[in-house]
Amino acid sequence: MLPKRRRAPVGSPGCPASSGARFPGVAIYLAEPRMGRSRRAFLTRLALSKGFRVLDAYSPEVTHVVMEKTSAEEASCWQELRVAAGSIPGHTSPAMLDISWFTDSMAAGEPVAVEPRHRLEVAMPGKEVPGLVWMPQYACQCPTPLTHHNPNLTEPLEMLAEAAGFEGSEGRFLSFRRAASVLKALPSQVTAPNQLQGLPHFGEHSYRVVQEVLARGVCEEVERIRCSERYQTMKLFTGIFGVGVKTADRWYREGLRTLNSLQEQSQRLTQQQKAGLRHYQDLSAPVQWPEVEALQQVVEAAVGHILPGATITLVGGFRRGKLQGHDVDFLITHPQEGREAGLLPRVMHRLESQGLVLYHQHHHGHCADATCPSRHNHAMDSFEMTFCVFCLPPPPGAAVGGTQRAVRVDLVVVPVSQFPYALLGWTGSKVKGMLLGPGQGLWSVAPIQPCFPQHFQRELRRFSRKERGLWLNSHGLFDPQQKKHFHAASEEDIFRHLGLEYLPPEQRNA
Ligand code: UTP
Ligand code: MN
Repeated sequence: MLPKRRRAPVGSPGCPASSGARFPGVAIYLAEPRMGRSRRAFLTRLALSKGFRVLDAYSPEVTHVVMEKTSAEEASCWQELRVAAGSIPGHTSPAMLDISWFTDSMAAGEPVAVEPRHRLEVAMPGKEVPGLVWMPQYACQCPTPLTHHNPNLTEPLEMLAEAAGFEGSEGRFLSFRRAASVLKALPSQVTAPNQLQGLPHFGEHSYRVVQEVLARGVCEEVERIRCSERYQTMKLFTGIFGVGVKTADRWYREGLRTLNSLQEQSQRLTQQQKAGLRHYQDLSAPVQWPEVEALQQVVEAAVGHILPGATITLVGGFRRGKLQGHDVDFLITHPQEGREAGLLPRVMHRLESQGLVLYHQHHHGHCADATCPSRHNHAMDSFEMTFCVFCLPPPPGAAVGGTQRAVRVDLVVVPVSQFPYALLGWTGSKVKGMLLGPGQGLWSVAPIQPCFPQHFQRELRRFSRKERGLWLNSHGLFDPQQKKHFHAASEEDIFRHLGLEYLPPEQRNA
C-alpha cells in the first residue's frame, strides 16, 4: 500500500506531485492529453514511489516530457507550441520521450540513459510538418500570444461569431469563437485547408469559411453579413456604453437605425446609456498606453490618499500586453483583509472633486465571504465595483488647446484572500464581439449583468468543471463534492490546483 500522500490524483489540489527526489537532475512531466487522467495519476504514483520527481504542471524545470500514444510529429507540435509562443524564454528544451523511456526507467529503478528509440523526434530536425498539428481541446491548455500567424482567417470567423451573438445564437457563437481560437494558437500560418485536419473545434461551417478565404481571399457569406443593415446597426448600438444585445435588438426591431434616432428618444434611455451616447465618439476611440499610465497615476494617488497601503493593479487586455483597449480595468485591494471595505465611495468622491469623473455607477458587493458556496451557482461577480467614464486631461506637452477626453474605466474592490482569482478572472481574455458587443463590457443592461467570462476564462472554467469537477470563478475555486475552497496565493497556485501548465497573461489571448 502506498503512503496516503501519494494516492491523491495528479493535478488534484493539494497534491504536490513531486517528492524528495532521488534523482536531482530529472524532473518528469507526463503530458496528459493522450494518456488520460487516471492513467497519468497511476504513472505518477508509480514514479513517486520509486523516488522520481514528477511535476504536475509543465515548467522550465521539466527535463523529461513523457507522452503516450503520441507520434513524433504530434510531440514536436506540442513542444513547438510552447517554444514558438515564447512562454518559457531562454531555457533548454526538455527531452521529448515516448512512454518506453518511462517504463524502462521504472523497471530499472532509476532513470535510464535516453536512447534514440525513446525519443519522440521527427526524422529530420527542423523540417516543417505540413498539415499535421496537434492541439489540445481547451484554449487554456496552450499558450495563445497576442500576435499570431492567422489573422486573415480569425477575423472572418470572429465576425461570424459576433454576428451569431447578435442573433442570440450562443452555440454558433461558441463554435466560431473556438475555431478562431485554435487558429490563434497555431505555431504557423495555415496555407491549405488540409492543414486543419485533426484540429479540434473545426466544424463544417468554419472549415468552409477558411477554405473559401484561402482560395479567394474573402468569404462571400462573411462579406454579405458585414454589409447588412442588421449587422451594421447591431454593431453601432452595442458599441454604446450601457447597451447590450437585447436592447440593441429591441431598438432594431422598432425600426431605429442611427444614434440620432436614439437621441430623439432620450426619455427611454438609462443614465448609463445617456452617458454612453454623450461620449460616444470618445469612447469608441481606442484607449492608448499613455492614457492608461495617466489614469493609473490618478487612481493610485486617490486610493493611496484614502487608504495608505492599498494597491491598485491593472488588469484586462492591457495586462495581457494589448497596446490599446476599449476601457481600463483596475483591481483595488489591501494586504489586510477587511480594510478595503468602504474604500470605493471615498475614492470616487475624491476623484469627482478633482473633476475627473464624467459618469459613474456603483455596484455594491455581496456575499463577500470566501467560503460561501452559493456564489458558485451565480454566473456573476459579486465584488464592489464602479463603472466609470473618466475625464482625462490632455497629456502634458500636448499642443495648447489639446482637449480633454472621455475614457471608460472599471474599478473593482477585491478582498485580498480572493485577489489571485480576481486577477486571473479580470485579466481575460476578452472575446471580440461576444454576446456583449465591444464598448460596453459586461454590464450592458444595468444594473447587474450576468458575467460572461471572456474566451480564455470561459475555457478555463469549462476545463475546471468538466475535467476536474471543480467550479472556478473570479472569487475562488470550489470542490462541490468535498464542499471545500482552495486557497491560492498567486495565479500560479490556481493553475497548479487545476493541474495546468501556468500561462502568463500575455499567453492568454485566446
Ligand atoms: P473587458 O470587457 O474590459 O475586456 O473585461 P478586455 O480584455 O480588457 O478587452 P478591452 O480591450 O477592454 O476590450 C475585462 C476582464 O474582466 C473580466 C472579463 O472576463 C474580462 O476578461 N470580468 C468582467 C470578470 O471576470 N468578471 C466580471 O464580472 C466582469
Ligand atoms: Mn478592458
